[in-house]
Amino acid sequence: MQDVTEILGKYSDNINSEMKTSLSNISPDELKEASIYLTKAGGKMLRPSLTILTCESVGGNISNASKSAAAIELIHTFSLIHDDIMDDDDIRRGKPSVHKVWGDSVAILAGDTLFSKAFELVISAKDDVVSGDSIHEALATVADACVKICEGQACDMSFEGDFNVKEEEYLDMIFKKTAALIAAATKTGAIVGGATPEQISALYEYGRLIGLAFQIQDDYLDLVSDEESLGKPVGSDIVEGKMTLIIVNALEKASPKDNQKLVEILKSDNCSQNDIDKAMEIIEKYNSLQYITNLAQEYVKKAKELLEILEDSEAKKALILIADYVLKRQN
Ligand code: IPE
Ligand code: IPE
Ligand code: MG
Ligand code: MG
Ligand code: MG
Repeated sequence: MQDVTEILGKYSDNINSEMKTSLSNISPDELKEASIYLTKAGGKMLRPSLTILTCESVGGNISNASKSAAAIELIHTFSLIHDDIMDDDDIRRGKPSVHKVWGDSVAILAGDTLFSKAFELVISAKDDVVSGDSIHEALATVADACVKICEGQACDMSFEGDFNVKEEEYLDMIFKKTAALIAAATKTGAIVGGATPEQISALYEYGRLIGLAFQIQDDYLDLVSDEESLGKPVGSDIVEGKMTLIIVNALEKASPKDNQKLVEILKSDNCSQNDIDKAMEIIEKYNSLQYITNLAQEYVKKAKELLEILEDSEAKKALILIADYVLKRQN
């Protein structure tokens, strides 16, 4: 685990410095501060590190990838700011969320600013570092992920209150809201690193699979972790009535009585800790935690197999470790 923290930490200075330059020229000050705030709050840097590592894994170097990597992290940060408004979550990365500090309007604008700056960053890679064709392809990749994030977030919201959501629908929703950006991170790295079309497809699929596992683990941690290690509220998915895979699976398997109880808790407007504990009891009774863990492990296994297309390198080793880390992580 230590290894992965080090791997992700290795590129932080580079990514932070690209983000800082990109966000240096925003006015008024309030918008600038609200835009920068979360980029300084210490995220894990998973996505931009993947962009740099996939670039290196196909023979490129950090200078080819650093601007696209920072752009991917800006897109991620924009999605978190807007997500906390939608989920009504007050804590992010251990700090008050952007909308709590500046209000919804400034938070929406800060998200939009980061979103736009990300595209500027991808374009700003110099011709001698990344070819025009690669920049074009990277832009299309990032834009595609952004549309998918919005589609996924829209589905996530529309699933609230729909207790008949099927596993397949849930998986499509998390592909769009979470895995699509992780897949765009790995694909973009491959593109700017000069990968073959086969390598680009394999690395996109690797990102998609670890992205699905990542969101399944996120749902799991929301139930079993604590706010201090997570840096965001625990149990908030139950309070919000979110249809996570754990819930979808438990509802599918539960007796009519347990199903009804769980639905009652999810519907409740003032969910207590006692309600969350009761929901957890039902989830455990039907082995839903084991079920989702097994599924996520299968995704990680398949993701690692896809890396066989790469020649051996330090970057490839890191990509293997990151695939395992997605499920071992505690925050
Ligand atoms: C949180 O992503 C949003 C999800 C897709 C679940 P991370 O857990 O990677 O957030 P940071 O960047 O480390 O804060
Ligand atoms: C986050 O899903 C997806 C995006 C930010 C696009 P969640 O709503 O589960 O993320 P957290 O748990 O708030 O980080
Ligand atoms: Mg959320
Ligand atoms: Mg959400
Ligand atoms: Mg979550």
